[in-house]
Amino acid sequence: MDQPTQIVIFGASGDLTRRKLVPALASLAAQGKPPAGFSVVGVARREKSDEQFRSELRQAVPEEHRAGFDQLAPRISYLSGSIAEERDLEALAKRLDGLPGGRDTGRLFYLSLKPDLFGVAVSHLSRVGLLDQRERERRSWRRVVIEKPFGHDLQSAQALNGELHEHLREDQIYRIDHYLGKETVQNLLGFRFHNAIFEPLWNRHHVECVQVSVAESIGVEAGRGGYYDGTGALRDMLQNHMLQILALITMEAPASLDADAVRSEKVEVLRALHWPDPRDVLETSVRAQYAAGTVDDKAVVGYRDEEGVSPESQTETYVAVRAEIDNWRWAGVPFLLRHGKRMPKKFTEVKIHFRTAPVQLFNRPEGMSQSEFRRRLRDGSLCQLRPNVLTLSIQPREAMALSFGVKQPGNEMVMAPATLAFDYRDHFQSKSAEAYERLQLDAMLGDQTLFLRADEIEASWTYADQVLDGWRHPEGPPMLEYPSGSWGPPEADALFRGCEGTWSRG
Ligand code: BG6
Repeated sequence: MDQPTQIVIFGASGDLTRRKLVPALASLAAQGKPPAGFSVVGVARREKSDEQFRSELRQAVPEEHRAGFDQLAPRISYLSGSIAEERDLEALAKRLDGLPGGRDTGRLFYLSLKPDLFGVAVSHLSRVGLLDQRERERRSWRRVVIEKPFGHDLQSAQALNGELHEHLREDQIYRIDHYLGKETVQNLLGFRFHNAIFEPLWNRHHVECVQVSVAESIGVEAGRGGYYDGTGALRDMLQNHMLQILALITMEAPASLDADAVRSEKVEVLRALHWPDPRDVLETSVRAQYAAGTVDDKAVVGYRDEEGVSPESQTETYVAVRAEIDNWRWAGVPFLLRHGKRMPKKFTEVKIHFRTAPVQLFNRPEGMSQSEFRRRLRDGSLCQLRPNVLTLSIQPREAMALSFGVKQPGNEMVMAPATLAFDYRDHFQSKSAEAYERLQLDAMLGDQTLFLRADEIEASWTYADQVLDGWRHPEGPPMLEYPSGSWGPPEADALFRGCEGTWSRG
């Protein structure tokens, strides 16, 4: 990046700017990554001076990024204005023209706004000429970063894509899914396609089931109740982050690491997700809401008593689905996806359960028949004997573990569980960068690999909409309840039917 880059953050007084965007920029600044003439303009309605804005940000930046922030601070300014006011946008254009690089440089517009403003924002930016990018002028690129949620269902996502495409080419649009910025999520692609030894096993012949868990101990955070109540766990986490993880685990190898090559393979597999018939949704999904309980030794209220949440709310804070992928590699393999708030702890993890040996030679309790033995293995009551599970821990532990059986020392032929383990922190002796660091840098560099393409989002919504349709069906699954601090409703265990294993506890 040999040219100054101008970043404009709309929604600059919001939480995301303080908690994620600016600390990530400060960390990049400390590593000397942004170019010399780099500048940031924060835009929000409230009146405040540059000085005030900088000092608010400084306070919010964690200690470890303060030095980087101090390098960045002189390049940060503030503009009080609204995306809806043409006059304000003209003032913004003037401000940008006066910054290093002027008009003849790259500009990144970061929309950290309410979702119903995304379309409006882009059309207003376009009207005042701020998105003008001549096809051949690679230097003075114009890009727009869009935060989630991208749509509320397939129809609204398509409508938003339509609005964006009226003013922008697809290569100017950077739709965020912050999970893709996580080191361990990117590792799913690297691990699979660099280590050829796993490829022959990575299919329905050898994989019995796959589970993806995203557990959170937090409930609905202060100030988010209203938003969350109109959204729910399926839209908030499953439709985006979890389906992205699923796509990376199940996609075919791309021909190159080119953004479109990778994204096209993800789209292919997302499109192969089996759409549940509304009547099947009862057998393939569970939804629930947290009730009062105890988390981290603290008593917490139930979801319906959270601020901003309707006391009659029918919004789920827990979702579990049994998804299937209709393609040659995966047909018949259950993919068990589970997410819940107010669970005992926070962790994100993928477990690939490999099939057990066709005939069990070892560890059969005396007097138990082969068929009984297999049944017990299947229902999980002897699951310590299931030797081969690959666990990909995404957060907070960043690790991988392959379990297998070894002969226990002694005169008998008894097999005991053992593990081959790798831990990012131990191995590299360093902490992984925050997702937003990588994502902002990539947006500046023009690399769209970790951003969602229009068709990818639409394919994910197509699946999520089918589940939601099933939930509206009179015979759809009931809204269950689980105490805060528990692992969710036991009814979700039934989704494992026919395969060995149980929901992970991290
Ligand atoms: C966001 C959701 O996308 O991801 C939140 O809107 C959720 O509800 C958050 O808490 C979780 O992100 P992370 O990176 O902490 O796992």
